[in-house]
Amino acid sequence: MKTYISILAIALALFSCNSEEKRITEIKSPNEKVVVNFNVNNEGRPFYVLSFNNKKVVDTSYLGFEFKDAPAFNKNFIIKNTSTADFNETWQMPWGEQLDVVNNYKELKVELQEKTSPERFLNIIFKVYDDGIGFRYEFPEQARLRGEVFITEEHTEFNLTEDYKTFWIPGDWDIYEHLYNTTNLSEVDALQYANHKNLAQTYIPENAVNTPVTMVGEDGIHLSFHEAALVDYSGMTLKVDTKNLNLKSNLVGSENTDYKVKKTMPFNTPWRTIQITDNAPDLIESKLIVNLNEPNKLGDVSWFKPMKYTGVWWEMHLGKSSWDYGMTQDMSTWTDGGKSHGHHGATTENVKNFIDFSAKNNIGGVLVEGWNTGWEHWIGFEDREGVFDFVTPYPDYDIDEVVRYGKEKGVQIIMHHETSAATETYTKQQDTAYALMQKYGMHAVKSGYVGKILPKGEYHHGQYMVNHYNNAAIKAAKYEVAVNAHEPIKATGLRRTYPNIISREGLRGQEFNAWASDGGNPPEHLPIVAFTRMLSGPIDFTPGIFNIKFDEYKKDNQVNTTIAQQLALYVVIYSPVQMAADLVEHYEANPEPLQFIKDVGVDWQETKVLNGVVGDYVTIARKERETGHWFVGGITDENSRTLQLDFSFLDDNETYEAIIYKDGENAHWDDNPLDIEIEKIELKKDSKLTIKLAEGGGFAISLLKR
Ligand code: NOJ
Ligand code: CA
Repeated sequence: MKTYISILAIALALFSCNSEEKRITEIKSPNEKVVVNFNVNNEGRPFYVLSFNNKKVVDTSYLGFEFKDAPAFNKNFIIKNTSTADFNETWQMPWGEQLDVVNNYKELKVELQEKTSPERFLNIIFKVYDDGIGFRYEFPEQARLRGEVFITEEHTEFNLTEDYKTFWIPGDWDIYEHLYNTTNLSEVDALQYANHKNLAQTYIPENAVNTPVTMVGEDGIHLSFHEAALVDYSGMTLKVDTKNLNLKSNLVGSENTDYKVKKTMPFNTPWRTIQITDNAPDLIESKLIVNLNEPNKLGDVSWFKPMKYTGVWWEMHLGKSSWDYGMTQDMSTWTDGGKSHGHHGATTENVKNFIDFSAKNNIGGVLVEGWNTGWEHWIGFEDREGVFDFVTPYPDYDIDEVVRYGKEKGVQIIMHHETSAATETYTKQQDTAYALMQKYGMHAVKSGYVGKILPKGEYHHGQYMVNHYNNAAIKAAKYEVAVNAHEPIKATGLRRTYPNIISREGLRGQEFNAWASDGGNPPEHLPIVAFTRMLSGPIDFTPGIFNIKFDEYKKDNQVNTTIAQQLALYVVIYSPVQMAADLVEHYEANPEPLQFIKDVGVDWQETKVLNGVVGDYVTIARKERETGHWFVGGITDENSRTLQLDFSFLDDNETYEAIIYKDGENAHWDDNPLDIEIEKIELKKDSKLTIKLAEGGGFAISLLKR
C-alpha cells in the first residue's frame, strides 16, 4: 500500500508574544468546545485548567518534575513567551480502521523560565483538538541544564470536578491483564489486586490505575486519560487521590536505579492525553492518540498485508497439545508440570492441516507456537537467559517443508518468539531471528514476554522495556517484519510512525477463558475493553471460539459469550491481524457460522460506531478497503437488549446482500451459547433493522455488494 501524507491545509498562524500583556494563556479547539487555560500561580507553579462545553472538567492542575541531584521543576517559574499555531492535515493509514485521518488542532506553546538561579527553561506544548487534548513537556537545549537528566518523578495532575463513573484496571507495573472494575473515582482501590494468582508477573505498588482509564459523567461527558508516543521514557500510571478526585502521574520505576527515567538533553516527554466527547461512540472514533504521533518513518510497508490467521495455539491453552516436545506445562498455574507426554502441537502434519483449512477459508496466515527448542525449560525456570534460540526447530517440525507448502497454498506462516522476558538473549538474537524470517518470506512475528523481566529488577512498563519493545520493532522493520507483541508495553499510537507495529495483547485476552481459575472473562469484559484498552490501539484478542464450553478439554472453563458474539468480535475489536482461534475440527463442525469468518474483512476504509454505552454494549460498522463490502458487529454484556439499526452509512444506490448472524431465540452465554440464527436479506441505505441480543450475546452482519 502506498503511504503518503496529503497535507490539505497547514495554516500556520504563528503568534509569538513576549510582552507581559500580550501573553496568550488560553487556547480553544477548532470547534471552540474544548478550552485549555494555562498559567503560573503566585509561587510560580505552572498549572492548567480544561473546559468542555463551557464546563470545567479539569480544574487547576499543577505540572512539574523531581530530579535526582537537581532542584525540582515545580515552582518559581515565569512565562517568558507564548506562541500559537493552527494545524490541519489529512494523512492516510497504510492499514487501519480507516484510510483518511484528519489531524486538526490548535497549539499553544508556553516557554517558562525559573525566576531565580539556576534559571532553567521548560516548555509546555498543548495541542487542542475537537476530541480532546494532548500536552507534553519539552526540555530545550540550555546552558544550565545539560547532559543527562535523571527524573525521579513527573508531577502531572488531572484534578477532576466530578466523582465520575470510572472503568479502570490497577496501575500494575508488569502487566495489563486485569479485569476492568466499574466504580466511582472515589472508590478506586487498586491495591486489592496486589496479589493475583493467574498472572506470571504483577506489581502494583500504589493506589493507581493504568491507562487508558475511561470515565463517564452525570451529564453524558466521556473522558479517557492516556498517553501518546511513549518513546524512551517510562509508562505512566495515574495515582488516584480518592478524597480530592485527583489523578497524578506515577511513572513506572526500576529496582536497579534510584530514578525512573534517564534522558539526555534536549528531549520531549510523551504526550499526556485526555479524550473528551459527549457520547460513548465518539470515543472509539477519536483518532487523537495516533494523531499525536509523528508521521510514518518506514515509508512503504506494503510487504505487510493485514490478514486473518489460524494457528497452533488454542489447542495448547486447552491442553490438547503442548508447546514443548517432551514435557507438559500446566497453563492454569503457570508452573512447570514436568511430565513427558508425546503431544507436541507444532508438528509438520498439524501445521499443514491448518494451512489447508486456512487456504479453503480465505484466511491468509497460520501462527505456529512451540516450534523452537527451549520450551521444556520455560515457566518456573529462574535462569531463562539463553534458553530459547528462535532458529532451531524441534525434530518433528520441518520448517522448510511447512513454508514451501504454505507458499503453494497462498498461506503465510506467522513466526512466534516467546522471549520468556529474557531480554538480553532476545536482543542478541534478533538479527539472526529476523533474517531467518526474511529468508522464508515471513512478514509477521508474534512475540511474548511471559514472566518477570530479566535483567531482574526491571518491569515490563519501565523505560528499559519501553526501549526494548520499540527497538525490537525498529530492528524488525529492517527485515520487513511486523510485530504483534504479547505481554507488551501499552499502545500509544506509535503504529503511525512505525506501521510494522501491527497489533498487541495488553489486556486479558481470550486465553483466560481457557484456563483462568476465576471463571474467565465475564460478558461485560469486551463492552468495557472497546471503550478503554481499544482506544490505545489494535488488540490481538484472538476471537472466533465456536466450541464455547469445550467440556471435552476443560470442564471448569468456558468462553462467556454466545457464538454470535464471537463472530461480532471480528468487527468490534480492531486488529490488522485477526485470529480464527478455534481448532479446525470445531470450525468444520459449524460451516454456517464459519462463512462469516471467511467473508469478513480485516482492513478498513471507514469505521462508524453506530451505538454504545461504556460497559454495556457497542455496535460498529466497518467498510472493507478494495471490495467496499460493509461488516457490522454488535456485542452486549450480561444483559439481553434490543437494538435498532439504521443503515444510512451504506453507499447510495447500492443493494447489499446481507447475511445476518444473530443470537437464537433461546440463546444465552451460559445456558445456550450455541443457539444462532442465520438469515439472508437485502439491505439498502434506507433500511432499518431491529435485532435482539441475548445475555452475553451479539450479532454480525456481512453486507456484500452485489
Ligand atoms: C502468553 C500469550 O498471551 C499467549 O498467546 C501465548 O500462547 C503464550 N504466552 C505462550 O507464548
Ligand atoms: Ca498473555
